[in-house]
Amino acid sequence: MANLVFLGFLLLFTPIATGEDEDAKPAFVPSDFQVPSVPESTHFFTFFPHESKINQIWFTSTAKKDGVDSEIEKYDGVWEIGLPTEVAIYNDAGLIVRSKARHHAIAAKLNKPFTFDKDSTLVMQYEVKYEEGQECGGGYVKLLNAGSHDDLKAFNDKTPYSIMFGPDKCGTSGKVHLIFRYKNPINGSVHEHHAKQPSNLGTTYWDDHKTHLYTLILKPDGYFQVLVDEREIIRGNILHDVTPPIEPPKEIFDPSEKKPADWDDREEIPDETASKPDDWDENAPKEIVDGTAEKPSDWLEDEPELIPDPSATKPSDWDNELDGEWEPPQIDNPACKGVSGCGPWKQPVIPNPKYKGKWVRPKVKNSAYKGVWTPKLIPNPHYFEPGPFDGIAPIHAIGIELWTMSKDIIFDNVLLCDSEETATEVAKQTYRIRKAEEARLAASQGIFE
Ligand SMILES: *[C@@H]1O[C@H](CO)[C@@H](O)[C@H](O)[C@H]1NC(C)=O
Repeated sequence: MANLVFLGFLLLFTPIATGEDEDAKPAFVPSDFQVPSVPESTHFFTFFPHESKINQIWFTSTAKKDGVDSEIEKYDGVWEIGLPTEVAIYNDAGLIVRSKARHHAIAAKLNKPFTFDKDSTLVMQYEVKYEEGQECGGGYVKLLNAGSHDDLKAFNDKTPYSIMFGPDKCGTSGKVHLIFRYKNPINGSVHEHHAKQPSNLGTTYWDDHKTHLYTLILKPDGYFQVLVDEREIIRGNILHDVTPPIEPPKEIFDPSEKKPADWDDREEIPDETASKPDDWDENAPKEIVDGTAEKPSDWLEDEPELIPDPSATKPSDWDNELDGEWEPPQIDNPACKGVSGCGPWKQPVIPNPKYKGKWVRPKVKNSAYKGVWTPKLIPNPHYFEPGPFDGIAPIHAIGIELWTMSKDIIFDNVLLCDSEETATEVAKQTYRIRKAEEARLAASQGIFE
């Protein structure tokens, strides 16, 4: 703690560069990395120590993705534990996506599984920085179910998860996903339920090249909150604010009922009493030759529209054997310039005023119309009254599985715990310091917010 206070003191009294006077800029010296600490009981926390390696805690997948072209089916995206391009804190490494246009997958096992019950709040928090911005790609985590932790290298897009959480962007729209997978206890089928996105999200988190902190808090009463940079962007309750709703409809249409054969659902029918008017000629053509048209007096029937170019000469290297008989190119006949036209004259074609097309009976209201048929409503045999957590499977591992069109995505300080205080304490020891240091670095380069 003492170190943090001292750091804050330094930040306050560091002179701010003006940007006008190059010499006045303070030389930027990265601050020292302080190892963050979390309570023993924390389910999972990695700050990616500088000396750590891939495949010690985080294992890259060696699986293949189903149903995609063979060149891109493998999870062969490159991961590295390394330093950012611009170091704001000495030796503060993160987990970095080093390749683009590939599938990336990596997973780590929790220290202890997280089980949803009436006493446990779930808190998931991590940092993402898109060093190059993001054109199209994910940055979300999946909280994986039992089985996944036995073989982290088998992690793929089909691995069952309970919650998917975090940023994603393609084109001009960004999202911070929050998806719950909930099991219907009656028929065992698992469905995805999405929290509603804020309307004004924009693309700042992806395009500003800064570190952002994503926090999910899910309380035992089903209340959830999504924070970015410690500010709330989504809130709701899992029982009321997800689509489709977790609670199934109480009634459904009876699937055994069929529409009676004599059910007339035609609102209008052709008028059988109408008949085709005598003067309606179905065979009249759509277009006719304009018999009244006359050839313009200046039309030159004997002049062709195109003539061989009199100024063209056969190229010296033309070979009649190889290239065939040489012919001059055709050009517009200069004699036709300024007159109505050249060549044989024909009367033009015009729309036929007598054309009517096929006659169809007009429609009238159907007196036998019975309305739209709907089957009877019956109680839904798969209905259940959900509790917030009843259908969410325990979490055993965390996975990051993404496609990206931009490389150098840095993940850091990945935390899964059951306490909001722990998450705030971690943010204080990591994100808040980083934010201040990144701002100080930007200021030393003359870049202002
Ligand atoms: C299970 O029940 C839900 C809710 O009624 C329904 O949407 C789903 O289709 C059912 N699944 C199966 C496999 O019957």
